[in-house]
Amino acid sequence: MNLAPEALPGSAELLDIAVTAARRAAELARSMRTDGVAGVSTKSTATDVVTAADRAVERQVIEELRARRPHDAVVGEESGTVDGSGSRVRWILDPIDGTVNYIYGIPAYAVSLAAEVDGVVVAGVVRNPVTGDEWTATRGGGAYRDGRRLTGSRVTELSQALLGTGFGYDAARRSHQARVLAQLIPQVRDIRRIGAASIDLCLAAEGALDMVYEKGLNLWDYAAGGLVAEEAGLLVTGLAGDPPGSEMVLAAPAALHQPLHDRLVELDAAGGP
Ligand code: IPD
Repeated sequence: MNLAPEALPGSAELLDIAVTAARRAAELARSMRTDGVAGVSTKSTATDVVTAADRAVERQVIEELRARRPHDAVVGEESGTVDGSGSRVRWILDPIDGTVNYIYGIPAYAVSLAAEVDGVVVAGVVRNPVTGDEWTATRGGGAYRDGRRLTGSRVTELSQALLGTGFGYDAARRSHQARVLAQLIPQVRDIRRIGAASIDLCLAAEGALDMVYEKGLNLWDYAAGGLVAEEAGLLVTGLAGDPPGSEMVLAAPAALHQPLHDRLVELDAAGGP
């Protein structure tokens, strides 16, 4: 018996599924936070934390995706990859990006969910459960926050640009990142370390930050936010012609991208531990 190949969903359909799942996930994260933070344990280092809420939110989203699209693969920060069965779609989930903020009650954490087709991110949503801010994008369809189309910053001088960045959890890596940043601070307006890379990228998409970079991000940290930034017209890259990846994610409007890129290369920002 020949089974008809599964119809490939459009990016709008995938975004719709992602937004529904992210809203329910955000509600779960918010309500669990109201009851207090539970089940805190550490991962790669003593400062890399995970909570019961990270796990519960991830479980809920995976169940929901499984119910709606049983053949798709899912990669989640807390559970790794759940293989699909013949689908060309893969979901990329960070149940709570900004877990340290979550634990401390700082209202800058997010559910981040993206959908890839054949390895290309085509839809993404980042939702802050506390503020209700929601950023969405589909490839070729633009980036939006609450119905408003996003177009990034118009700043053209590095010296006038507000720079977002972050640090990894490994002490040696942090020292290297701090040395790079110490060289950059005198050359930009100021820096922000908000604590959730997905939110950094979305703030750059709306021009609330002028540009962002970070070494050492995982795919789930930047898949959805990276698409939001790209669809807002920013260049989202690695260094020296590389695509964004764990070595470097740099997102900036064209006028700022080249000068920031060149400084990051000079400072060996993608190097070190
Ligand atoms: C972290 C946040 C942080 C960034 C770290 C990430 P997590 O994600 O995005 O802003 O600087 O590199 O690991 O651990 O809170 O999901």
